[in-house]
Amino acid sequence: MRAVRFHEHGDPDVLQLEEIEAPTPGVGEVRIEMRAASVNPVDTYFRDGSYEPATMPSIPGMDFAGIVDEVGPNVTEYEIGDRVFGSNLGAGTHGSAAEFLVTPTEQIARLPEGVPFKTAGVAGVAAVTPWRALIDHASIEPGEYCLIHGGNGGVGHVGVQIAAGVGARVITTAAPQYHDRLTKLGAHAVFDYTRDDLEDAIASAVEEPPSVIVDHMPERYLQFDCDVAAHGARIVCYRNRHRIAEFTDLPAVGGKELQFNVMSATNTPELATRLRRIGRLLEDGWLDIEIAGTYDLSELPEAHRRVREESIFGKLAVVP
Ligand SMILES: NC(=O)c1ccc[n+]([C@@H]2O[C@H](COP(=O)([O-])OP(=O)(O)OC[C@H]3O[C@@H](n4cnc5c(N)ncnc54)[C@H](OP(=O)(O)O)[C@@H]3O)[C@@H](O)[C@H]2O)c1
Repeated sequence: MRAVRFHEHGDPDVLQLEEIEAPTPGVGEVRIEMRAASVNPVDTYFRDGSYEPATMPSIPGMDFAGIVDEVGPNVTEYEIGDRVFGSNLGAGTHGSAAEFLVTPTEQIARLPEGVPFKTAGVAGVAAVTPWRALIDHASIEPGEYCLIHGGNGGVGHVGVQIAAGVGARVITTAAPQYHDRLTKLGAHAVFDYTRDDLEDAIASAVEEPPSVIVDHMPERYLQFDCDVAAHGARIVCYRNRHRIAEFTDLPAVGGKELQFNVMSATNTPELATRLRRIGRLLEDGWLDIEIAGTYDLSELPEAHRRVREESIFGKLAVVP
């Protein structure tokens, strides 16, 4: 099969398209003939050595969609020909930048007929992360004000849809060219994150301060979050494993009591159940995943460069 691998850490040029043997499913695993995969920022961290992959050489790529083409021993719930999608979140392996992928059935769900492979293939991390933040950690409720930083990002644009979908009033931040699209996805107000008066702008758009905040850059925004949050707010942070900035001080919270949740989607319990539900939301049109660009396997280095260096709305997809 064709697969992209890296044999050493480095810049995107270490990604090489190679011909290797297709993997064979073990007990409880299926082999998937790939139709689409995602490019996540985390793929670039494994590539550049910020994170250590489980094996070297390593095939990057966390999320995927395709057709089951072989089932391993003890697999009863899937058969050859099933359309599936999933994510290797928490599995300790990656490997979706290839023509075939082997993964445990705990990492996948059946893909509803009406949902395109490409949409499902980029959905995993982008949908599971805000679900965990908003539903599991923040227990968000209808009518609450919710602030989501970085609304145009892969995770951010799904977070806006989930929070708005459950009836919260969503305030989000993004560059001006994305404001209309975020409003269409359900945002109540969108502000450019470079504004000097961002705190005042948010205050002027809400009847009461946000009681849920989702923050992907706490090293930059944690004090800001504390300043704009309602008393009793739930602030949920997800970030990367490597230290980007040193926290030297605890944030000042004034007279408020605040709840801080620090999470990683890697620890998602019952991933397959969540994927099944995400599949239904995609099927019903309740949720959509925006795709900003599609690459073939040979173009993965460019996709890795773009996801780190350029501003995009939604996700980048890889189609083998
Ligand atoms: N720990 C976990 O479980 C987990 C899970 C998923 C993601 N993550 C991490 O969370 C981050 C976001 O993931 P993603 O997939 O959504 O990445 P992404 O698609 O690259 O989105 C990044 C977002 O951050 C915005 N941004 C950049 N600089 C900003 C600033 N100064 N203030 C506010 N927003 C800013 C970007 O806006 P522009 O387009 O204007 O640059 C974009 O909206 C990444 O670092 C990723 O590695 C962690």
